[in-house]
Amino acid sequence: MSTDNLHALRVHDLTVQFDGARPRMWSKRSTFTAVKSISLEVERGRTLGLVGESGSGKSTTGRAILRLETPVSGTIEAAGFRVHEFGRRTPKQFRRAVQAVFQDPLGSLDPLMEIGQIIEEPLSIHFHDLSPRERRRRVRDLVDTVGLSAHHLARYPYELSGGQRQRVAIAKALAVEPELIVLDEPVSALDVSVQSQVVNLLEDLQREKRLAYLFVAHDLAVVRHASDAVAVMYRGRIVEEGPAERVCGSPRHPYTRALFDSVPDPDPRRSAAGGTVRADTLDAPPGRVEPEGCPFYARCPIRMDICTTQFPYFTPVAGGGSLACHAVVADSGRPVAVAV
Ligand SMILES: Nc1ncnc2c1ncn2[C@@H]1O[C@H](COP(=O)(O)OP(=O)(O)OP(=O)(O)O)[C@@H](O)[C@H]1O
Ligand SMILES: [Mg+2]
Repeated sequence: MSTDNLHALRVHDLTVQFDGARPRMWSKRSTFTAVKSISLEVERGRTLGLVGESGSGKSTTGRAILRLETPVSGTIEAAGFRVHEFGRRTPKQFRRAVQAVFQDPLGSLDPLMEIGQIIEEPLSIHFHDLSPRERRRRVRDLVDTVGLSAHHLARYPYELSGGQRQRVAIAKALAVEPELIVLDEPVSALDVSVQSQVVNLLEDLQREKRLAYLFVAHDLAVVRHASDAVAVMYRGRIVEEGPAERVCGSPRHPYTRALFDSVPDPDPRRSAAGGTVRADTLDAPPGRVEPEGCPFYARCPIRMDICTTQFPYFTPVAGGGSLACHAVVADSGRPVAVAV
């Protein structure tokens, strides 16, 4: 089925819009662009961490990949399926190959079903030639794989802890042997100690089953630990991406630097291109930002006039990956130098 053996996910130039509010009854409904011309890739068996503040479009991106949102433009290839060509009804094989785990499993697990039934359900849908006996054996294996035990099978979701419920959600996703899992804040609702257990479980499963993850998260420590590559979103745009070590260790975009609150660079020339962003200390932006301008303009300490009209092209960064910032590129020449 797959057209590309290297990648589990390839998103190109994806834009997703929502109908905005209608200011007056007779006025035209405005549109709101939640995701704007983003491209990203996840290799098979690897994790891409998607970070950015609340409302930056991370979940919308994940939902578009799952075909829960309809893109305005762009292409999405997930597990070899051309998702952008699907209508509202997606093929069963796609629903098997691309799974999701969300932040709050209590919302996504049927409260009236026992854990055993919850995990068995996808098996009956996708593998109907399994005998009931074989299905039950697989359920027991899955429960074991995610670190729960047989006595959890007869429990209901509300009887489990948050971490245990997330393990059930992971078992349910794994049941159908997916190639790609969209993990949308999978550990954000858990206690810190439980977070690392669930992240470790996800990592073990990834190695064992060569799963690819799109890992959406707020917590940068979690992203850094769990991801091979990281993409940073700001108001619908990806502004920087690259190997996790480089993006987290030597962030170059002023927004990424603000996000990671990076230690000041000892080289003054480079620090000039990326001080911490303090929106409150900035002068009011001198001009209007066009829709095609950089969304970070108003908060950016190193903004230039060109940023109001043109979102920058991506420029390669030494150490891997790329960033979209006129000022950093102008300051450093090309490619952007990175202290290692
Ligand atoms: N169904 C919808 N209708 C209208 N606007 C929406 C809809 N879903 C999301 N949005 C808007 O799109 C933007 C991006 O939302 P999204 O949920 O993707 O952000 P996010 O990065 O996942 O944020 P968070 O970190 O809070 O989960 C937000 O401004 C949100 O209000
Ligand atoms: Mg979200």
